[in-house]
Amino acid sequence: MSLVPGKEILAEANRQGYAVGAFNFNNLEFLQAIVTAADHTETPVFIATTEGAIKYAGLDYIVAMAQTAARSTKTPICLHLDHGRNLDVIRRCIDAGYTSVMIDASNLAFEENTAKTKTVVEIAHKKGVSVEAELGRLKGIEDNISVAERDSFLVDPEQARRFVKATGVDSLAPAIGTSHGAFKFKGKPRLDFDRLHQVKALTNGLPLVLHGASTVPRELLDRCQKSGVKIPGAQGVPEEQLIQAIKHGINKVNVDTDLRLAFTAGVRTVLNENPGQFDPRKYLSPGRESVAELVKGKILLFRQGR
Ligand code: G3H
Ligand code: 13P
Ligand code: ZN
Repeated sequence: MSLVPGKEILAEANRQGYAVGAFNFNNLEFLQAIVTAADHTETPVFIATTEGAIKYAGLDYIVAMAQTAARSTKTPICLHLDHGRNLDVIRRCIDAGYTSVMIDASNLAFEENTAKTKTVVEIAHKKGVSVEAELGRLKGIEDNISVAERDSFLVDPEQARRFVKATGVDSLAPAIGTSHGAFKFKGKPRLDFDRLHQVKALTNGLPLVLHGASTVPRELLDRCQKSGVKIPGAQGVPEEQLIQAIKHGINKVNVDTDLRLAFTAGVRTVLNENPGQFDPRKYLSPGRESVAELVKGKILLFRQGR
């Protein structure tokens, strides 16, 4: 199959009330692991690259690998630019064959974010490419935070309504208390579901995206720790809260950190157990398998609303 526009995958997920996964990759092994998991579960998936991934692997390599991966399965695959900030990179992705782009201008003032997002929508839609944008800042909700402080960085539902109307985006990532990486919360994990509910209602049921959605599962942390990874205090979004978020209207769940942990645990375990091993295929394969297993589990979890 060819790569499909993100909008098609999200419309179906939204209609049926579930979420798909968006998984980041920077190399062949992660891509193969993600697409294997999508194929085995027969569930559409976003394969996502950041500007950093493009710098690392090269745009032409990424597109060629993604198109080859999509042709290897009947399951719909969308190639997505994650957190695009640079208009030139966004244009290059659209021209090269990406089927979805995110314009992340969430660091700018509301009016500037709106204007920049509108420009990307105009460029992308001409080529049938879907657009995701972001409102609010990705930052964990600290214990004892005041209402005013929350309002200062989480999405404003009324702004979301105006933003979606003015820009014509296909999906929106509202900041509701998650953050990127392995250290999401200092205290108790908590997301703002009321806010999410309001955003869904005020944007007429637009597909919504949750960034920073790694769960940093206990068993994975244990495997990491055993293999020598040192990340004390790591904490992700609890699975039950992800399910709640999907029930409140999230249709795309972004995961990167958990894949990195799974890969690293797989590779380090083999290298620790076999100090004489220096054939990369022998340690990259367990990394790839570990990511594929993890992604399968995520896909099935996100599908639960169906
Ligand atoms: O938001 C996406 C990632 O977790 C950060 O990825 O290191 O490729 O920028 P990056
Ligand atoms: P995590 O760091 O929680 O995996 O988030 C990834 C993400 O949001 C990619 O856009
Ligand atoms: Zn993100």
